[in-house]
Amino acid sequence: MVNPLAELAYQGWQQTKNALSLTHKSLAYQLSTLFIDREKTSTPTIDPQVLSIIQQRLEALLNVDWEEANLGVYPIELLFEEDWQDFLWTYPQIWLDLPLTWQRKSRKQSHVFSSEVDRSAYPKYYLQNFHYQTDGYLSDRSAELYDLQVDILFNGAADAMRRRILAPLKQAVSHGETPPKPAKILDVACGTGRTLKFIRQTCPQASLYGLDLSPYYLRKANRLLSKIPGELPQLLQANGETLPYVDNYFHGITSVFLFHELPYKARQRVINECFRVLKPGGTLIICDSIQKDDSPEITPVLNWFAQTFHEPYYQHYLSDDLGDRLQKAGFTEVKIKTHYLSKYWVARKPEPCQTEGERAGKFLFSPETVSRAS
Ligand SMILES: C[S@@+](CC[C@H](N)C(=O)[O-])C[C@H]1O[C@@H](n2cnc3c(N)ncnc32)[C@H](O)[C@@H]1O
Repeated sequence: MVNPLAELAYQGWQQTKNALSLTHKSLAYQLSTLFIDREKTSTPTIDPQVLSIIQQRLEALLNVDWEEANLGVYPIELLFEEDWQDFLWTYPQIWLDLPLTWQRKSRKQSHVFSSEVDRSAYPKYYLQNFHYQTDGYLSDRSAELYDLQVDILFNGAADAMRRRILAPLKQAVSHGETPPKPAKILDVACGTGRTLKFIRQTCPQASLYGLDLSPYYLRKANRLLSKIPGELPQLLQANGETLPYVDNYFHGITSVFLFHELPYKARQRVINECFRVLKPGGTLIICDSIQKDDSPEITPVLNWFAQTFHEPYYQHYLSDDLGDRLQKAGFTEVKIKTHYLSKYWVARKPEPCQTEGERAGKFLFSPETVSRAS
């Protein structure tokens, strides 16, 4: 029996994070005008109706987050885990870093890296200060600030969006007559390891693997994941376009907030590689930003984001048909959902013997779950 006070505490905590994030962004905007011309910092005049749609989408997301914890998809405690020490150290650092970000933005500098970074080790498209963030993804400092920066950007709901991969993942890896034990699950572009942390708490028996191009983000992920009991995920520095794993190896693959930062050719290559390393019957789950057609009312906000933050591939991503890309790679049964500001593609690698008819008759989600798609 779930304590109703726990639900109130969860909703109250999320509303507080939402309010604090909005206040932070408003203050940061006011201060930024000391560094950048108002014209260059233009915030969109967002129609109150659009704001209300965004707020409703946030509330719907939080309801699903609570509901799935209640249903036992993942432990309720997971919704309350906050590292206060980390927050108290990181938050002032974010303020100290902001003037540098504004300066880069004002000068349109988006390729600024320390001379210690070995540029030959990374694809050209990656060597950028995404969001004008200091050092791009290539320093310990960037890794330290990243989680809180993203959470503020999404008004305190970044983890709730990440957790939406858990229900379909759990269902997928226990799919079939004999559940594979232990399931092997890979998180592509695992960053600082937050999604892997949630997967570890949802599928405690699974063998977990994480891959990212940034050694600094992996170092932070390693610290986070080492604190959780259970087998330590195997973390590897590599490019998602050339996955260093054998064919047909994983039961499930996830990828969160990666695709909007890839040029379109790289997007297709990552999907092709996921297809190759998944076992037949395995499932790929992608979570990324919502796109233009998902909620046309919000499109001006998405366009503003593409222009204001340095996100060189986001504009193309906004109308890229990832469902089509998944099918081109060989995936079937592609299911699509959106929650708040994120979008999810759940795709299955077919079994070799599956006929078209068999494929059409199989569902990864229960009909109840499918009908909840927004
Ligand atoms: C926006 S962050 C998302 C990180 C994490 N998944 C999360 O939920 O916060 C994008 C991540 O993708 C990684 N990345 C970008 N291009 C990559 C590539 N080609 N191969 C592997 N990782 C890549 C970056 O280093 C960064 O950690």
